[in-house]
Amino acid sequence: MTNLKTPPGPPAANNLLSQLQFFQHVQADMLAVLNAGFRDHGDLWMLDIGGKRNFLIKNPDHIYEITVRQADKFHKPQDYTDPQRGLARFLGNGLLTSDGAFWRKQRKLVAPAMHTQRITKYADTMVFYTVQMLEGWAGKQELDVDDAMMRATLQIVAKTLFNADVSQDAGRVSNAMAVLQEMNGNNITLESLLPTWVPTPRRRREALAVRDLDEIIYGIIRERRKSSEDTGDLLSMLLLSLDEDGQGMSDKEVRDEAVTMFLAGHETTANALNWTWVLLAQNPEVEARLHEELDRVLAGRVPSLADLRQLPYTEMVIKESMRLYPPAHGFGRVAIEDVEVDGYVIPKGSDVNIVTYAVHRDSRWWDDPEAFRPERFSPENEANIRKYSYIPFGAGPRVCIGNSFAQMEAHLMLATIAQRYQLRLAPGQVVQPNPLITLRPKGGLHMRLEARPTIQRTTPTPASAPEALPA
Ligand code: HEM
Repeated sequence: MTNLKTPPGPPAANNLLSQLQFFQHVQADMLAVLNAGFRDHGDLWMLDIGGKRNFLIKNPDHIYEITVRQADKFHKPQDYTDPQRGLARFLGNGLLTSDGAFWRKQRKLVAPAMHTQRITKYADTMVFYTVQMLEGWAGKQELDVDDAMMRATLQIVAKTLFNADVSQDAGRVSNAMAVLQEMNGNNITLESLLPTWVPTPRRRREALAVRDLDEIIYGIIRERRKSSEDTGDLLSMLLLSLDEDGQGMSDKEVRDEAVTMFLAGHETTANALNWTWVLLAQNPEVEARLHEELDRVLAGRVPSLADLRQLPYTEMVIKESMRLYPPAHGFGRVAIEDVEVDGYVIPKGSDVNIVTYAVHRDSRWWDDPEAFRPERFSPENEANIRKYSYIPFGAGPRVCIGNSFAQMEAHLMLATIAQRYQLRLAPGQVVQPNPLITLRPKGGLHMRLEARPTIQRTTPTPASAPEALPA
């Protein structure tokens, strides 16, 4: 790799003081630091923090190179895979944190549970838990919508993939998830400079959260092993799978995939919905069009899978919301060999960060990028979107395995909720994105509930009746 350039970037932070200053800036406003970097240095720039090089990417061609064409030259970054400091200390060696042959084997195992034919069977469960949540809203005027979305999406993933009802444990599970969510996905914190044996308050909270979750998840695995029943869900698939040597998965391996699906499978979708509520409250003309479609097509009925085709605008709203606020605001890799991208060299061992948030708001690919315009995703317009400029689910072999699951879930949940309620920001609620592992509204999302005028409702549909819940 001769004659290749090193990308531009700010001066290396190679002493403790400059590193501390950098951490402070990132903690104060990471998105602003990234945006300023792209503004000052261009599409591909480099940060050097104490000799660790980090390449920041937002050009669709570069995204294609890294996620698709040269995908095999990259692994997941240490922030994910390091068992002491990375996400793996919580998720273990599941789909999100593994690489190579083990990842390929696990991906093949999990894929059938996410296949379109199977996920369509999950639609009633998705609506059921949404309706159950709405029943709990009766008489309330204000609520933390973030908390409500998290609980509902967690229950949905637990029931559909593990046939487990976590309603009893919902509080414990969502608390544990919230604690783990505080772990900064990029690990850019002052605490990350301390040795891992230092028991900081945050680390103690994390240990308790993992203990709580393990108790619940090993409980679910134990029960299922005891009954040795094949319920056809993901958990059965994992428990019954055998590798080439006829070996089944250990409880720890099943636990790691289960925790991964719990985390990856609920808070991303919850955040897609959170930002949708914020954007609808700020854009009444979009909201009015959404209500018109829901009232016309559903006329008060609880939506079902069969209705989704007739609700294209509802889907466009979600896609546009994920453009402005991609729940996975960025994702990383580490180069496992020297890689050339557009005349630049990314040396082996360097981190690469694809900044989804930045490419989604780039005026070269998006006209008036800050505006909330669902029409961008109408069938005619969608065909003209620049490839790899819209990547809420990533791209290439490691594209989100829950992609279709999530889109169907968000579509059904938005239709079910927006049909009955209009949400408005509570007085004093300032909305600020907090880029943790996912992009969350900082400090929760307090909104006022306004019941929509009752439209003619037919008799309760099977989806709202508990006995209709798929076994
Ligand atoms: C709106 C909702 C969602 C968004 C925005 C989202 C986003 C993403 C992104 C960007 C990646 C790729 C990360 C990378 O390349 O490093 C990913 C991977 C993944 N997602 Fe999702 N996701 C969502 C919902 C879900 C759901 C519902 C599930 C499971 C039920 C799920 C499970 C996973 C798993 C297991 C991976 C790792 C796949 C692999 O590496 O093979 N996600 N997701």
